[in-house]
Amino acid sequence: MKTKFWENKTIVITGTSSGIGEALLHEFLPLNCTVFAIDRSPKEHPKNQAKVVSLLCDISKEEDVERVSTEILKQTSTVDFLFNNAGITTHGRFDQMEISVFKKTFDINFFGAVHLTRLLIEAVKKAKGTLFVTSTVSGLYGIPGRSAYSSSKAALHAVFESIRIELSEYGVRSIIFCPPYTRTALRTSGLDAKGQRLNEEQAKGKIKTPQEVAKEMIKACENPSSRLVTFDKSGYFVKWMRLFAPALLEKILFKKLYHDFH
Ligand SMILES: NC(=O)c1ccc[n+]([C@@H]2O[C@H](COP(=O)([O-])OP(=O)(O)OC[C@H]3O[C@@H](n4cnc5c(N)ncnc54)[C@H](OP(=O)(O)O)[C@@H]3O)[C@@H](O)[C@H]2O)c1
Repeated sequence: MKTKFWENKTIVITGTSSGIGEALLHEFLPLNCTVFAIDRSPKEHPKNQAKVVSLLCDISKEEDVERVSTEILKQTSTVDFLFNNAGITTHGRFDQMEISVFKKTFDINFFGAVHLTRLLIEAVKKAKGTLFVTSTVSGLYGIPGRSAYSSSKAALHAVFESIRIELSEYGVRSIIFCPPYTRTALRTSGLDAKGQRLNEEQAKGKIKTPQEVAKEMIKACENPSSRLVTFDKSGYFVKWMRLFAPALLEKILFKKLYHDFH
């Protein structure tokens, strides 16, 4: 980490109560910076050098997002980094999926991030700041058994690409970050096709730790040319196969993930 790069910065992170967001917050704790940590339920964060302002917000509720943005803007007029990280996963076949579950997934993963960004955008412009979305490799192609999750993240790509172009003349950057499977609570906190809480085991094989992912997020911010960021085999594979061999990619996904949607 280039510590000087982060000194005196104002950082907003959603979803710091666990997993990737919590690991990211911990990277900033030893630094001289201010972090607005947005959580759905109260969470005691460790104390260190950074000033941490804890704010409660269910990102899917418009009134909560409005309240926390007002609170942030009362305390600062500039936001250097806005990490739209909070999210849930949703697993289930499209032909069994309740539409309310689809909508809930979008309310959290898509509208939550878009609304918060919209309300803080002037402060980001003022700072020539960076917008960051924690997407996923599953946002790079419609993954079987993940139609709601994949689409809620893919839709974010379009929004943050538009913003990147529109606000490039203000010096605002936009990074879409696609981590692979990571060992977090995502598979227990997510929803199934009927809206019940998922209680799935972690993905098999070698999966990333939230700390590894947080370090890659920081590297992506420090690199001025970051746009759509993938950083492991699965990410590179899906990113390039969708362009050059989509039919083969679909065959591989069908076979590899068959049990996930049957
Ligand atoms: N784990 C993976 O394999 C993986 C891979 C690629 C991308 N991602 C993405 O990484 C991001 C972080 O997920 P994670 O893996 O770290 O899982 P996690 O441990 O479940 O963390 C998700 C965070 O989002 C918060 N959140 C969920 N719904 C919310 C809501 N309505 N309002 C406010 N906060 C809410 C959670 O708060 P609560 O504690 O209150 O639930 C939690 O802090 C997500 O956007 C996810 O899509 C994860």
